[in-house]
Amino acid sequence: MDLLLNPNTNATPETESGTKPAFNTEFADDVKAGFAGSPKTLSSKYFYDGAGSKLFQQIMELPEYYPTRTEFSILKKQKAEIINFFNPSDFFHLVELGSGDGLKTKILLRQLLQAKARFEYIPVDISGDAINQLQSALSSELPDLKTVGFTGDYFKALHWLKRNKPGRKVVLFLGSNIGNFEDNGDLKFLQEIRKYLSPQDKILVGFDLQKDPRVIRQAYDDASGVTAAFNLNLLKRMNRELGANFEPEQFEHFTDYDPIAGVVKSYLVSKRNQTVTFSYLNHTVSFKAWEPIHTENSHKYSVDMIKELGRKSGFETEQLFTDEQHYFADVLFRVV
Ligand SMILES: C[S@@+](CC[C@H](N)C(=O)[O-])C[C@H]1O[C@@H](n2cnc3c(N)ncnc32)[C@H](O)[C@@H]1O
Repeated sequence: MDLLLNPNTNATPETESGTKPAFNTEFADDVKAGFAGSPKTLSSKYFYDGAGSKLFQQIMELPEYYPTRTEFSILKKQKAEIINFFNPSDFFHLVELGSGDGLKTKILLRQLLQAKARFEYIPVDISGDAINQLQSALSSELPDLKTVGFTGDYFKALHWLKRNKPGRKVVLFLGSNIGNFEDNGDLKFLQEIRKYLSPQDKILVGFDLQKDPRVIRQAYDDASGVTAAFNLNLLKRMNRELGANFEPEQFEHFTDYDPIAGVVKSYLVSKRNQTVTFSYLNHTVSFKAWEPIHTENSHKYSVDMIKELGRKSGFETEQLFTDEQHYFADVLFRVV
């Protein structure tokens, strides 16, 4: 198994006095910019530090969180049909954007290995912890698999792939990550990915479908409070990595589903007037009582919306794989 680690290199060096530990300047800049605006925002990509990735694994096991087990069942039942669409006898790079722990991907990887497919697996994740854990799990669970892990942002990875892996590609973008962008961000993202792909390439995208709004709302506000802990971990991460002094108990997790817009929005709401200091950044931010920080969008789709999104991005819907309840869809797009 090949390992390629590309750890974040944009950390600031330690100051001369040694008082400020090195920190991720991209994270610091995004926090400053997001808190300078109104409403205050913080990108959902910062959920996944080590603690956040562990909390997300717990979310995936919650009874309320239907997306993971539904997509798991789609892949499990239809794995043979799905991999046939990848033209497995012709060598390809299987690139997974935002691979996380690869729980569901392993279903396809096992099927591909069993079918003696000619491929290498390239998981991409912004979380170095996620990539390290996935690579070590794969080296013991699937020792015959050739894996080249990439730690970094989706586009950094695509740029690297374009220059270093020019062959045919099948891209996986599972788990309804596509729904986490701002309005129209899904279209911009797919259009951007299209630029990195060639006519024979394909992309399999997981979409969470529109359904009973109460089912959706509960998935993002579970009774045991794991999703709340996941959202609040953003504050703890800023404390750990940017020297902030957030008191997480002074913020509340709030989330709601708007069935007209088809989006769940998640927030951290300040329970009182408060000022937070980021000691590594010489920076302070004030929050008014009940002021929200917008931390996540989770868009839900109809089949018509999915096909239209694909068409506008330069793809044609080749096949749509769904479950009996029509809760989730894994959609295979081919480049037009
Ligand atoms: C919701 S999890 C889904 C994981 C997996 N695809 C699944 O279906 O279970 C999202 C994953 O995408 C990664 N991620 C989020 N934003 C990213 C970005 N901009 N670039 C690369 N990875 C990102 C996170 O670290 C996390 O592991």
